[in-house]
Amino acid sequence: MEKRIMIFTGKGGVGKSSVAAAHALKSADLGNKTLLVSTDMAHNLGDIFERKLGREIVSISDKLDLYEIDPQYVMENDFPEIIKYIGSFLGDAGNFRIQDLNMLPGLDELCSLLRIAELHNSGGYDCIIVDCAPTGETLSLLKFPELLSWYMEKLFPIGKVGVRLLAPVSKTLFKVEMPNTHAMNDIEKIFVKLLELEELLKNRELSSVRIVTTPEKMVVEETKRNYMYMNLYDFNVDGLYINRILPGDIGNDFFDNWITIQKKYIEELKATFSALPIYEIPWYEEELKGEENVRRIVNDVLTDDNVLRTVVVNERERFEKTDEGYSLSVYMPGADKTDIDMFQAATDIVIKTGNFKRNIPLPNILRSYMISGAKYEDGVLKIEFTKGEEDE
Ligand SMILES: Nc1ncnc2c1ncn2[C@@H]1O[C@H](COP(=O)(O)OP(=O)(O)OP(=O)(O)O)[C@@H](O)[C@H]1O
Ligand SMILES: [Mg+2]
Repeated sequence: MEKRIMIFTGKGGVGKSSVAAAHALKSADLGNKTLLVSTDMAHNLGDIFERKLGREIVSISDKLDLYEIDPQYVMENDFPEIIKYIGSFLGDAGNFRIQDLNMLPGLDELCSLLRIAELHNSGGYDCIIVDCAPTGETLSLLKFPELLSWYMEKLFPIGKVGVRLLAPVSKTLFKVEMPNTHAMNDIEKIFVKLLELEELLKNRELSSVRIVTTPEKMVVEETKRNYMYMNLYDFNVDGLYINRILPGDIGNDFFDNWITIQKKYIEELKATFSALPIYEIPWYEEELKGEENVRRIVNDVLTDDNVLRTVVVNERERFEKTDEGYSLSVYMPGADKTDIDMFQAATDIVIKTGNFKRNIPLPNILRSYMISGAKYEDGVLKIEFTKGEEDE
């Protein structure tokens, strides 16, 4: 198999860890050297596999390793130069304590990601499966691009890093091996690491994001928003897992009612995520604790051996950064050009044509932007956004 990094994300408690673990088992079954890594501070891979895990990688079989990342430990042990630099950056290197780093947004996530990139680059693994902390937190792993630009701006003002580094890096870094790394100072090395990491995550053949959800109102809403957000940041989202689906034949009024509710949300999810492969996972009668129980997902749902492959997805909509702001492209072939109507509601863009109406949730970052133009061409409606006047 081609080398892979698969990132599992979703709202709290929906089954991310279980589904990620199932993929790790599947991957190992297929003969891939696999690493299942958790970046969630509330780790539970140890529970799932009924093992005591430490801060280092643990092998549980020939093909499968588990790793619960402790970001603090990673920072101190793997990236001391970052600590050193940030320490000096904070201005008080002498009195600097590692706890102070907690003030910096997302440094945990960043270090976890750098560590994952390092493990990928070491070449020891065919497939790295990442079990993320729940979305909806102030900072999640997948806000990495935003995080990265924040750090780039704060820590690497152009003057400091210097033209020497920036000029050659942007053009050649990813095509040829970096020349004379010895000549680079620590700051430059960190800078290069961050750029490499970004490249790794943006590589759509290598890295993809899979979303786990359940068929209920609040979760579905967050899932949709999450998806927009990841499109905006150009992650390759190539799979949706609808977990905890009740069996259709319970014959009990209470459950029949819930089955009807679930059906409604499953349909809604299928409509929104029609561009992606969708996997449906039954609600089992017991917790998925222990390898044997997690294997139920492997046997019931992950039957196709291609399930680990990246999928090229033709999204129904796509956000892109432009020179002026952002653009949103919505795939809606066959629409009547003269009958397309759109407006910006509080948190959504609403598009109407004929009987078709779609609400597309706007990522937070676009809330302060206004529609500045739109055109319909080759079945794609393209809406331009530019930054609105600040009204504070
Ligand atoms: N399809 C299912 N059937 C029965 N139990 C399930 C199913 N999926 C998950 N569970 C159980 O639900 C609980 C939460 O699952 P899991 O830990 O995988 O979710 P998570 O999204 O990783 O949660 P967190 O956000 O806390 O990390 C676990 O006890 C798990 O065994
Ligand atoms: Mg979890």
